[in-house]
Amino acid sequence: MFSLSQTKGSNKNNPFDLNNTDAYHYWRDKKLSGYPTSIDELLIEIKDPRALSAAEYQTIIRSCGKTNMALYRSETVGDSDKNIPLMLAKQLGLRLLDHNWLADKEGVTSLTVRPTGERSHYIPYTNRPIHWHTDGYYNPAHRQIHSLLLHCVASAAQGGENALLDHEIAYILIRDENPDYIRALMANDAMTIPARISDTGTARPDQPGPVFSINPVSGDLHMRYTARTRSIIWEHHALTREAVDFVSQLLDSDSGYIFRGRLEPGMGLISNNVLHDRAGFENDALHERLLYRARFYDRIRDTGMRKVFQF
Ligand SMILES: [Fe+2]
Repeated sequence: MFSLSQTKGSNKNNPFDLNNTDAYHYWRDKKLSGYPTSIDELLIEIKDPRALSAAEYQTIIRSCGKTNMALYRSETVGDSDKNIPLMLAKQLGLRLLDHNWLADKEGVTSLTVRPTGERSHYIPYTNRPIHWHTDGYYNPAHRQIHSLLLHCVASAAQGGENALLDHEIAYILIRDENPDYIRALMANDAMTIPARISDTGTARPDQPGPVFSINPVSGDLHMRYTARTRSIIWEHHALTREAVDFVSQLLDSDSGYIFRGRLEPGMGLISNNVLHDRAGFENDALHERLLYRARFYDRIRDTGMRKVFQF
């Protein structure tokens, strides 16, 4: 039987450590027990994300502790205040905002179709579908994204749904299939994003790194992944190839753990950077999709594995 007393403050008995099957099974059973079976169970009605009530806050934290995500529906329809995701983040303990170079000056990114200019070259600023990924997979190790907030100001005339999969559930499904797949995906050179060369030279060097990694301080699991097949180099090992194939089959499957839905105005996603995709969409004169996105290097407060599962 797994002993709780051995685990405090160390990764020795971390469930994500392949050498520790007792801790893994203890955590896995707790994680899967009562796990939501429909996206409706993730949806929380809130008044204003800028000023959560104590009850709203607790419900969000509980949901993110269980599934690494929560969806909210708020009474902010028609309000395009960019402070919504920033003020929400502050209440959730998120302090380390990722100011990526295409973000607006507040550090919030406005995801909307940009027909011209620098942003128009990047798929998030088009109406095209985006394959499964976690955010910031191209970032260096010290700038990995641990949480992601989306707030919908306006939805498209048609389409733009998201699929969502808790990355800890993905870990379980992969490890249960073959623990060696996890071993391959934890290798430091499992997935490399090749350098981006700009007109003036190298804009960004090669970014090799693992798919799954364990935070050395908190013990939490992080996932770095993209289903894109161009501009990505997987380690040439046969086991890595098999593992990657298994992951893409899982993400293409109709697994009950994959939640699908569309953010409507006033709604938002709060997540510890779970796996997600985006369907293509069509705008019309009255419906131009606009989502605010804020990404952080920290995880939502009190949703870590040790706190939630009392490791
Ligand atoms: Fe994303």
